[in-house]
Amino acid sequence: MKKIISSAPGKAILFGEHAVVYGYPAIAIALSIRSKCIIEENTERNIQIFLENYNQRIKAPDFYRLEKKIPSKFNQLVTGLKLLQQKYDLNYSSLSFCFNTQLFPSSGLGSSASIAVAFIYGLNEYFGLGLSKDEINNLAYEMERIIHGTPSGIDNTICTFGNLIYYKGGEFQFIEVDTELPLLIIYSNIEHDTKEAINRIRRFKNTEPERANSYLKSIGKITNKAKNHLQQGNLDEIGDLMNKNQANLSSLHVSNQTISEITNFCLENGAKGSKLTGAGLGGCVISLGDLKILKNISQQLEANGFKSFLANIDKQGVRIE
Ligand code: PMV
Repeated sequence: MKKIISSAPGKAILFGEHAVVYGYPAIAIALSIRSKCIIEENTERNIQIFLENYNQRIKAPDFYRLEKKIPSKFNQLVTGLKLLQQKYDLNYSSLSFCFNTQLFPSSGLGSSASIAVAFIYGLNEYFGLGLSKDEINNLAYEMERIIHGTPSGIDNTICTFGNLIYYKGGEFQFIEVDTELPLLIIYSNIEHDTKEAINRIRRFKNTEPERANSYLKSIGKITNKAKNHLQQGNLDEIGDLMNKNQANLSSLHVSNQTISEITNFCLENGAKGSKLTGAGLGGCVISLGDLKILKNISQQLEANGFKSFLANIDKQGVRIE
């Protein structure tokens, strides 16, 4: 029986979150931590969706009833199936779709985009549709819109193509990085709140425009410098810029005590740089450093109740396993 396993990397914003909302650049990295989609036939002659991370299994006799039954937070998946069905007249009966991710969900690591990309890629392979990566990316963006409204498209693009992206004003540019970029991704144990974090900065800009704008502008400059240092593989300078970026995010009130405690702990224990990634107010912290040092930090954080994982640049993007 036919079985396809596809996977796509996660993402982290290395530089420029929030400032990107106001036209400054941002840099995102594909993480070597993946989400997986397994597509295979089942003998029950129904459609099955199994979400391993949520331990949730949804079975329906046909696509119409699947749509009715699926919890709204997983609507994205039905959209993906629908988009392809409309275009190619596919038949999903007797198919099982299993999803799992190693990424912390709802933490700014692009888990939904990474699942969407892996899903479309898996369907493309299973049905032999011959879609290009650009087409996969566009379809995954449509799936992302179901969850995020009008997302920037950073997440699905980085999950599809891998590597690093410099993003400004709707334009993407890949950054060539030859060195390793050892990162530790630490979950703050607090779900991130993108909407609230964005609103917080908007309010700050309304009440104290000069101060808020100076922090945002400073982040823009940091991101541009970081782009050059990434191309040259200067890890010390990249770490230093991460710390400066974090200081500005903190001044913009999107950091919090837990995030500061984690970044300080990482720096005190030898990391080169440490900052929140994504919206802030929770979510994840990323720290850059020598692998051995990061491993040690990870163990100590684990003992203090913080889960983390080591990651590097994923250069491949979505793939069949
Ligand atoms: O944590 P995330 O992945 O939701 O990142 C949000 C990044 C922002 O810059 C705050 C918003 C955006 O759309 O770029």
